[in-house]
Amino acid sequence: MKKKIAAATATVASRPFVYRNRVLHCDHVSLNALAEGYGTPLYIYSASQISERFQLFQTAFASRPHTVCYAVKANSSLAILRLLGRLGAGFDIVSGGELERVRRAHKPALRKVVFSGVGKQAWEIDAALKADILQFNVESVQELDLLAARAQKLGIRARFALRVNPDVFAETHPYISTGLSEHKFGIDIKVARAIYRRATKSKWLEPYGVSVHIGSQIRKVDPFAAALARVTELVSQLRRDGHDIRTIDAGGGLGIDYSDAPFDAPHQVDRYAAALGKGLANETAHILLEPGRFLVAQAGALLTQVLGVKKNGSKTFIITDAAMNDLIRPALYHAHHEIVPVRQPTGKAVITADIVGPVCESGDFFARDRAIAQVKPGDLVALLDAGAYGMTQASNYNSRPRPAEVLIEGTKTILTRRRETIRDLMTTEIL
Ligand code: LLP
Repeated sequence: MKKKIAAATATVASRPFVYRNRVLHCDHVSLNALAEGYGTPLYIYSASQISERFQLFQTAFASRPHTVCYAVKANSSLAILRLLGRLGAGFDIVSGGELERVRRAHKPALRKVVFSGVGKQAWEIDAALKADILQFNVESVQELDLLAARAQKLGIRARFALRVNPDVFAETHPYISTGLSEHKFGIDIKVARAIYRRATKSKWLEPYGVSVHIGSQIRKVDPFAAALARVTELVSQLRRDGHDIRTIDAGGGLGIDYSDAPFDAPHQVDRYAAALGKGLANETAHILLEPGRFLVAQAGALLTQVLGVKKNGSKTFIITDAAMNDLIRPALYHAHHEIVPVRQPTGKAVITADIVGPVCESGDFFARDRAIAQVKPGDLVALLDAGAYGMTQASNYNSRPRPAEVLIEGTKTILTRRRETIRDLMTTEIL
């Protein structure tokens, strides 16, 4: 039992969340103080960790012309987009809403935007054309026709890449694997050449790149190499066909370790860069990268207060004021998040419990049968690695206002999103 506690302490050491004077801090700010100042549940992010992760990509790919287009869907906080934009990031967007976020956060980055997604609508395409984004990652022939029509209508030429489906298996949760022919994503790589050829019929379409994205939370790097090798081969064929292909978009998907094992982030990015390099061989195209999770997941935590500890038969439940509406990953993917008390445990009392929220369904859990330090009502606990796909997947289920968000910059705390109010929840309704 003592071992478990030691492991939990080690866990936080490889993240920006560390114990100082027996209290969990994000960089130099105490989570006790944050709970007092901003309430719970609260999303907390470390700006320095996000910058560091971004720089790891910049360094690992320094020998190639490249742009890191951060996947906005992972965490679309305007403050985080601005932080990354100012560091030089481009952005991978999937909706008109995300485009607007980039515009609001850091307008100069619009020209470094790639627009992905299987169901783009005319108004979204129009907005992106007018914003002069870098490229559209087109996922079907029908979408390509729509893009040509909108481009003609607006008199703006559209740079496009086909998102190809390389039929590569990436070991991850089935909901977030995307590179097999059975998935809804992309265009079968075998028919891509014919579609590029067809596209040259419209002067409003500019074949500009090829893109691929095989899934998310991928820990092995071989599938990336395999996918890129197929894309590189296609690019050579396209060049022989006379297309001036400038970019190869390698997508996102590099996974992190959600467990309490030590995690060597620089090494992981180096492995990833080496795998992509292998797939790219001598290819000299400008490389686009779309990491989401790797940049922001471990920079963030969800801080929550224990409302009660309850026993039902042999089970113990720790009920927190955060719930599945605030962080749905455990409920949706059975995802693991480390859960650590804000007051550092002394190593004595450990219990096995389910950590659950107040939402009215049994799927509302953060962990099941987890060994955790004894906690009591009023105590604070932090769910780690919640910076990616946490707040962006939050909802108002059970009419619960969504959490506030703060960004920590060293010793400074910036409230980047105020807590929703009950009133906010009803502003769009008509009675
Ligand atoms: N590019 C495209 C086209 C994507 O669809 C995605 C993620 C990314 C980049 C970024 O992938 P990342 O580097 O973050 O793995 N909600 C799930 C993850 C869904 C991923 C969707 N697409 C989760 O919480 O695990």
